[in-house]
Amino acid sequence: FGRPWIFIRGVPSMEFLPPEGPMEIAFAGRSNVGKSSLINALVGHHGLARTSNTPGRTQELNYFVPAGYTGEGKDLPPMALVDMPGYGYAKAPKENVDAWTKLVFDYLRGRSTLKRVYVLIDSRHGVKPNDEEALALLDKAAVSYQIVLTKTDKIKDPAVPRVIAETQEKIKKRPAAFPVVLSTSSEKGTGLDDLRSAIYTAIGR
Ligand code: GTP
Ligand code: MG
Repeated sequence: FGRPWIFIRGVPSMEFLPPEGPMEIAFAGRSNVGKSSLINALVGHHGLARTSNTPGRTQELNYFVPAGYTGEGKDLPPMALVDMPGYGYAKAPKENVDAWTKLVFDYLRGRSTLKRVYVLIDSRHGVKPNDEEALALLDKAAVSYQIVLTKTDKIKDPAVPRVIAETQEKIKKRPAAFPVVLSTSSEKGTGLDDLRSAIYTAIGR
């Protein structure tokens, strides 16, 4: 992660995906859970992925790569990071929800370079019914995924291991879930090294 990252493109539907190249690590989760903030914190570049208080800020699959790589060509970087549009935004029109489900499912099913999805769960709220639906979709697509709790700065320190344990319990029968739940705060920078190590392991480095 120790070099500059750039945004290469926003993908509203499958035909706009860049050609398969670097291994991809994607970030999914409810609107406002902190996906874009976590990407920024991981790469140490605060304005890279757009963040917002308004849920539904990210509407496309947003591709980030280390600077110098254009999305084509032979000089493959070790990985690309993909910021996914959030789900579960109550005010979203039905067409948007259907488009989200289709884009995400097509991407998850069809992308051989996708190595892992990190599913972000707000540490204050735990796994909600729409998270369960997203996890079921990932299981169905047979894509390896791991849960990352976010915004742990908003809960008391002793509550963190309890939320981790509850979450691990909820996912233990899920076939494509990695059994270890990580916890992070993009605000405070906690848990980022563990997540970076997990990502390196996922891409085989
Ligand atoms: P969508 O693109 O709408 O799906 O949202 P997102 O999941 O990308 O969330 P985003 O990163 O835009 O963050 C949403 C809000 O949560 C912003 O106001 C962030 O500043 C805030 N936020 C994100 N991470 C943290 C965190 O670790 N701690 C705290 N306290 N706030 C956070
Ligand atoms: Mg976002």
